Amino acid sequence: MSVLVTGGAGYIGSHTCVELINAGIDIVIVDNFYNCKKSSIDRIRALVDRDFKYYECDIRDREGMDRIFKAEKIDSVIHFAGLKAVGESVEKPLEYFDNNVNGTLVLLDVMRNNGCKKIVFSSSATVYGMNNISPLTEDMAVGGVTNPYGRTKYMIECILQDLYASDNSWSICLLRYFNPIGAHKSGTMGEDPNGIPNNLMPFITQVAIGKRDHLNVFGDDYDTHDGTGVRDYIHVVDLALGHVKAVQKVEKDNGCFIYNLGTGIGYSVLDVVKAFEKASGVTIPYEIQARRAGDIATCYSDPSKALAELNWKAERGLEEMCEDSWRWQSQNPNGYPD
Ligand code: NAD
Ligand code: WQD
Repeated sequence: MSVLVTGGAGYIGSHTCVELINAGIDIVIVDNFYNCKKSSIDRIRALVDRDFKYYECDIRDREGMDRIFKAEKIDSVIHFAGLKAVGESVEKPLEYFDNNVNGTLVLLDVMRNNGCKKIVFSSSATVYGMNNISPLTEDMAVGGVTNPYGRTKYMIECILQDLYASDNSWSICLLRYFNPIGAHKSGTMGEDPNGIPNNLMPFITQVAIGKRDHLNVFGDDYDTHDGTGVRDYIHVVDLALGHVKAVQKVEKDNGCFIYNLGTGIGYSVLDVVKAFEKASGVTIPYEIQARRAGDIATCYSDPSKALAELNWKAERGLEEMCEDSWRWQSQNPNGYPD
């Protein structure tokens, strides 16, 4: 089996490429390197025993994508490529809709023209919106999304469902990720955000390394066990292994499948701070701030459908997620080299 991985040089994509090759699956990476460094490709290569090709190409470049499909034997696609910063999407909605929605439309058209009808898509728990009560299950209503980024994910889910309804020879898997953190055990691959991190764990690791002097905790008056927001943090390697199962599913069965990829366990911001301090031995100074606009109190998955249908479940706990995030950050204080 040979899988085209769009966005394969990014955070989740790079970890997934390693696990695909470990599972005996061939890969071809497409990335425009907008939000990652080319050295992440070298880091993937150093961890696997088989060579693979990568192409520098934007998924919106129809001719470029078509050339790749014609040059390579591609059975299925795992589609990570996209912009993902919630706050930036509010400032730049057109760029987000163009990159994420238009990019996906171009990709799907090129796939269809080349007879490839199997795709695994990176969706997000964000599609569950503000009103559902955790644990979140795949059959809950989706779409009450509050920002352009989340809307791109919801819109792409709708597009893929309509595509399957129009032609049920497609095989489609929508994976709704919860909060990916952690890094490869080697300490050579991890999350490397540009500028000030938006997400909790990279912010914590940058405080730990001395790049930032304290963490701002957004709100301590939520209806949770300590007043801070509760999320379902999932180790990026568990998430990567979920993609191996998902791509095997689309190879085998036609349909449009939806799965949560989470642990089913919710931890608060302060739980994560404490777990990180224990794993790293470093104290994380923090200040309580006002709530962040658009945040909800609690968001965690019911991951039982993925267990029942994909035989997948997250195996790595919060302690291991913190240890691995810290190993990556402490061994690579400036992230990937240029
Ligand atoms: P990332 O930014 O590290 O990876 C995305 C990759 O896609 C980058 O390497 C980027 O250069 C590439 N890319 C972006 N636009 C492209 C384009 N037009 N053409 C080609 N390449 C392009 O992000 P990630 O955290 O690895 O996320 C991967 C996917 O998972 C994204 O679609 C994201 O929305 C989704 N997701 C992420 C999270 C999270 O918290 N990290 C949660 C839910 C869903
Ligand atoms: C986690 C918790 C914050 C930073 C986002 C996207 C979602 C998905 C995953 C892509 C919350 C708190 C955070 C900080 C803090 N991405 N926090 N101080 O908001 O659950 O989800 O990433 O699909 O779509 O919305 O993740 O890591 O930003 O926040 O107190 O500096 O940490 O308020 O409670 P979130 P996060």
